[in-house]
Amino acid sequence: TQVEKQGFRHYMLKEIYEQPAVVRSSLDTYINLNWHADENPDYSPVNIGLTPDMTDNLEHIQIVACGTSWHAALVGKYLLEQVAGIPTTVDYASEFRYSPKPVIPNTLTIGVTQSGETADTIAALESERARRVNLDPKYHARLLAITNRAESTIAQICDCIIDTQAGIEIGVAATKTFVAQTMGFYFLALDLAYRRQAVSNQRISEIVEGLRQIPSQIETILDTQADAIEELAHHFTNETEDFIFIGRGINFPIALEGALKLKEISYIHAEAYPAGEMKHGPIALLDNKVPVVAVAMPGSVYDKVISNAQEAKARDARLIGVTTAMNATEAGHTFDDILTVPEVDEIVSPVLAVVPLQILSYHIAAIKGLDVDQPRNLAKSVTVE
Ligand code: G6P
Repeated sequence: TQVEKQGFRHYMLKEIYEQPAVVRSSLDTYINLNWHADENPDYSPVNIGLTPDMTDNLEHIQIVACGTSWHAALVGKYLLEQVAGIPTTVDYASEFRYSPKPVIPNTLTIGVTQSGETADTIAALESERARRVNLDPKYHARLLAITNRAESTIAQICDCIIDTQAGIEIGVAATKTFVAQTMGFYFLALDLAYRRQAVSNQRISEIVEGLRQIPSQIETILDTQADAIEELAHHFTNETEDFIFIGRGINFPIALEGALKLKEISYIHAEAYPAGEMKHGPIALLDNKVPVVAVAMPGSVYDKVISNAQEAKARDARLIGVTTAMNATEAGHTFDDILTVPEVDEIVSPVLAVVPLQILSYHIAAIKGLDVDQPRNLAKSVTVE
């Protein structure tokens, strides 16, 4: 009803606008404000409450998830490897359950889920517990859930949970739960990085500061970009049948998520590629009818993404860039349209970069008059295999 939507036309839009509050609430819950790098604190910068039997001697982390949660897991893998220094694998739960990796000792297994009830994710976690139970204790399963549903089946199967504080999501296309799961991975990676001294306290402090800016930075995107994105959306509501999304490094999962949002609610075919892979296939698809969205956040791979985007432009593709305000002028030479986000450290940039893509998909679907909150053939929670 309108009352529940609080004046928003759809739940999805309402949930996009709830993201600053959700991130704020997760920061309030998990960040230790007393922690200061220069005081050499002997406790963690985050309070996620993981017991030592979950985190000691970790050699390996494996993550199982489906859909949008799988994209959050890919951002998580980047953080766990690049910040905490722990080798991490990510599998679709539906694949993992039938082809699990050989067991590695001292493994943390993470299930990421917005509903807490996805059948494949439940089965993957249960089978992981079962196949390790009779082995030497160092092989025993350590199961962690990253979810907004503390009362769910998956939360109960697991030994620990990070409650992402997103609350219940109604729109079938996940938005706020994705951002909140991603925040959960930042907290986990920071906690493990601190315990293992994988990066300096100074670096931890910088990342925490970056995260603390996120709520107001998302507000800036909502306040300054939403109208322009809606305007842009009108270009893709009639003829456009395919979209390509590209990104690299920590923002490749954001390209995947941008493409998934578009497919789910606008029924426009969209594919995402790591930008460097364009030349190995998708570039053959490009012409002036196939827009390309490049997630081009300043940092280690910015120049690479720009040059990959220029290759697309040479094939007459309409080029849309997601980049920061400071880079917008320079990027203006490359992109036909720019979705601007505030200045941000690359390591926390996915949480911002996803927001304009959510808004773009939302408006394309809404302008087409589609049922944004209940897209055809999709369910909010997939409780059958
Ligand atoms: C369904 C939903 C998606 C979600 C996926 C995984 O397909 O429509 O939005 O990403 O399931 O669900 P989970 O609840 O495990 O995150």
